[in-house]
Amino acid sequence: MDNKFYITTPIYYVNDKPHIGHAYSSIVADVLARWRFGQGEDVVFSMGVDENAQKTVDAAAKRGEEIRAYTDRMAEIWQSTWEKLGLSYTDFIRTTEERHAAVVVDFWRRLEAAGDLYKEKYEGWYCRGHEAFLNEDELTPDGLCPEHKTKPDWVSEENYYFALSKYQQPLLDFYAAHEDFVAPANRFNEVKSFVERGLEDVSFSREKKAWGIPVPDDPEQVIYVWADALVNYITVVGGIEGWEQHPADIHVVGKDILRFHAVIWPAMLMSAGLPLPGQALASGFFTIDGVKISKTIGNVIDPLDLTARYGNDALRYFLLREIPFGEDGDFSEAKMRDRYNADLANGLGNFAARVLALAEKEESVAELSDPAFQLEMDRMRQLAFLRTKEFKFNEALAAIWAAISFGDRYMNNEAVWAIQDGEDRRENLGNLIALLGAVAEVLLPYLPDSSRKISAAIRREDGATRASRIEPLFPRVTA
Ligand code: MSP
Repeated sequence: MDNKFYITTPIYYVNDKPHIGHAYSSIVADVLARWRFGQGEDVVFSMGVDENAQKTVDAAAKRGEEIRAYTDRMAEIWQSTWEKLGLSYTDFIRTTEERHAAVVVDFWRRLEAAGDLYKEKYEGWYCRGHEAFLNEDELTPDGLCPEHKTKPDWVSEENYYFALSKYQQPLLDFYAAHEDFVAPANRFNEVKSFVERGLEDVSFSREKKAWGIPVPDDPEQVIYVWADALVNYITVVGGIEGWEQHPADIHVVGKDILRFHAVIWPAMLMSAGLPLPGQALASGFFTIDGVKISKTIGNVIDPLDLTARYGNDALRYFLLREIPFGEDGDFSEAKMRDRYNADLANGLGNFAARVLALAEKEESVAELSDPAFQLEMDRMRQLAFLRTKEFKFNEALAAIWAAISFGDRYMNNEAVWAIQDGEDRRENLGNLIALLGAVAEVLLPYLPDSSRKISAAIRREDGATRASRIEPLFPRVTA
C-alpha cells in the first residue's frame, strides 16, 4: 500500500453560487483530508465545478451572459468561497478544461471497446434540475418533476446507451465483497435493493447540443453530463494511469447523487477495466428552519455570510456537531448562535483563555503529573480517533468537549486561580496546559484555526513549558 489518501467532493453545478448545503459536504471532506494528513498521509483532496450541464446554458441565458464568460465568473465564485472557508483542497477541477475533455474521450473509448455503448432511439422526460431522465411514474399527477416542480422536457432522439444492465450481477458481487463500499450502512442497503430490483441501460449522450464534450467520431452527439462529470475523479489524478495507480479512497456525496456514485460509476469503471473507488460516503440533506433550501423560497444561506459573523471554525463546529453524519438535519441561525455561545464562547474559548492567562503569569509550568489527566487525555484521543474513523463526527466532538468539561470542573474545584503555593500552582497549571494542548491537537482537523492559535500559545523552551494568553477565540455573539 502506498501512503496516499485521495478524497473528493462532488463537483458542483455553476447555475448558482454555493449555499450551506454545498459547504456541508465540502467541510466533511476537508475534515477527513486534514485528519489523514495528520496521520502522515500524502493527501489529494479534489473539488471542482460541473460545467457541461444544460442548466449552465440556461443560467447564462437567463442572465444574458456569454456562456464562457459566465462559467469563468462562476467557477471563480465557487473556488474563492472554498478558499475563504479555508478548505485544504489540493486540486480544483473545471470540466471545461482541456485536460478533462482528453480523459473523458479516453474513457469513452474504453466503454466503446468493451462493447458497452450502443446507439438507440430514446424517448423520455428529461428534468433539467436533475440533469437526468425521469420515468413517467416518477412525475406528479400534473406531469411535473416532484422535486423541482418544473415540467421536464420531452426528448425524442437517438442517443448512445451505456449497458448498465449488464453490470447488475458484477455490482452485487462487488458489494458483497466490499461491505464498507457505501457508508452509512442504511444507505448501502438502499443501493443494494435498488440494484437487486434490476438495472436499465442509461442514455449516455444527447443529440445536437452546442454545449458539452462531443462524442468521439460523432460530432452530432454530446456526452451526457453525468458520464462526463464522474470522470473528473480520474482527470484530477492525471488520467487513467494515475487512477490505476491509486483510485479515490473516498467520494463524499449527498444522498441525492449516491446512485450515480455507487451504481453507475462503479459499472462504468468495470466496463473500462479500471479499479473501483474505496468508498462512497453519503451525507444527508438539510433544511433551513425546517424548509427545503430553495431559491424560489428565498431561504438560501451563503456560508460566507455566516463565517463573516461567527468565523470559519464556528460554521464547521456547528455543522459537524449538530447533524449526525448521514442523517438529514436542520439549520437555523438561532441554533447555531446557541451552540456557538454555549460550546465555543463559554466552552473551548473560555477554557483556553482562563488556562493560558493563568499559565502566562508563571515563569514556566510543570510537566503533566496527574494520572487522572493522563487518563482523560487518553480517553479523548482514542474516542476522537475511533469516532472520526467511523464518520461519527458529532461523537468525536462530544468526546473532545467532555475533556474540556473535565478541565473546567478541575479548575473550579481546585480554584486554581487562588492557589497560593507556587509549586502547587505550577503543577496544577502543568496538568491543565497538557490537557489544553491535547485538545488543540485532536481538534486540528475539525477547528484548524483555533487549534493552531492554542498550540502556538504553548511553547517548549529550554526544557520547560511556557504559555501566553491569546485573543478571545470566540467572542460572544448576541442576536
Ligand atoms: N454536479 C452534480 C455532482 C457531480 S459529482 C461527479 C451535483 N451538483 S450539485 O451542485 O447540485 O450538488 C452537489 C451536492 O451538494 C449534493 O450531492 C450534496 O452533497 C450537496 N447539497 C446540495 N444541497 C444540499 C442540502 N440542502 N443539504 C446537504 N447537502 C446538499 O449534483
